[in-house]
Amino acid sequence: MNVVAQPLAQPLARPAPPAPYGMLAELTHRCPLQCPYCSNPVDLDRRTVELDTQTWLRVFSEAAKLGVLQVHLSGGEPTARRDLESMIRHCVEVGLYTNLITAGVGVTPERLAAISDAGVDHVQLSFQGASVEVTDKVSNFRGAHERKLAVAREVRRLGLPLTINSVVHRANIHQIPDFIQLALELGAGRIEIAHSQYYGWALRNRGALMPTRDQVFWALDVVEEARARLKGQLTIDAVVPDYYAKYPKPCMNGWGRQSLNVTPSGKVLPCHAAETIPGLDFWNVREHGLSDIWLNAPSFNAFRGTDWMPDLCKSCERKEKDWGGCRCQAMAIAGDAAATDPACHKSPLHAHLLALAEADAAGGEVAYDYRRYVVPDRAN
Ligand code: SF4
Ligand code: FES
Repeated sequence: MNVVAQPLAQPLARPAPPAPYGMLAELTHRCPLQCPYCSNPVDLDRRTVELDTQTWLRVFSEAAKLGVLQVHLSGGEPTARRDLESMIRHCVEVGLYTNLITAGVGVTPERLAAISDAGVDHVQLSFQGASVEVTDKVSNFRGAHERKLAVAREVRRLGLPLTINSVVHRANIHQIPDFIQLALELGAGRIEIAHSQYYGWALRNRGALMPTRDQVFWALDVVEEARARLKGQLTIDAVVPDYYAKYPKPCMNGWGRQSLNVTPSGKVLPCHAAETIPGLDFWNVREHGLSDIWLNAPSFNAFRGTDWMPDLCKSCERKEKDWGGCRCQAMAIAGDAAATDPACHKSPLHAHLLALAEADAAGGEVAYDYRRYVVPDRAN
């Protein structure tokens, strides 16, 4: 699909990138849960800086024009926005497929019915554990598990497709078989077993979350066996933990290649953790059209394609498979966003990354630093 270009501020110095097909719309950072693995930034956006309804509707129209096919309505907890239904209705009108990513706490059956009536296409519901004890502890919310079960049943009663999302780490990795069983019992068509990725709050909590190498390899076997056994019944997607891997993940399937993120305050990011990279200029939908941002924002062009790569990646046969891995992980571990991702075994920092993971995993019981607003909001 071609990009529907808006008038450009200046001619492009490079061929126009293809249109993105996915957009993550972080409608709010507000959330009743406090998961320590959250990939939201440590400095969360306040309600006072959130985009208003009309601006979001314009952004969705521009996304559809740009060629985006799927919008993931996320957060924080997107149902904290009372205008969610009008956003979904608008997405339907402009031809966007909508996926609601919810934690399911505070969502009544009446609200779900309204969301369904608005035309949502799919619901993705997170479970922090496969049992009451683990979900409530990891989310720091008593009663969260029971509420999620009720939401999952209601989603299915309304006839909506359901995906269960379970982020796994040291406290719940042993529950992977139970997560899969739970997804089957709830009538989900898909489960996402996502090993915690260490950005934002998760990076802060890495010492409390990191599983051991043995746990990770056991988990990979369990997922493989279940995939084969449940083929045609349940789709199992896995986000692999690359601290123990030989090659890095193709993060975002390449920077500025397929998707974009819009934060609650309107900044457009090439990935959810991009703000951890100093010096990048993130354009905001309040001042720029989405197409202009996708094509011209310096942040999107910073690591697009392969020109920016260090020689190690440039000369590697995998450079268009993993796109050099993750820029944010390179920043966090190597202190240089343009370095080869240390998850790659060819990186000079690979042994260092592995040592960090092993030291964290051996750390025993570590208290969580739960996700919260760190700096008091003086505007409220
Ligand atoms: Fe990927 Fe770069 Fe490692 Fe090659 S050297 S596998 S391109 S990260
Ligand atoms: Fe930013 Fe991987 S999370 S590039």
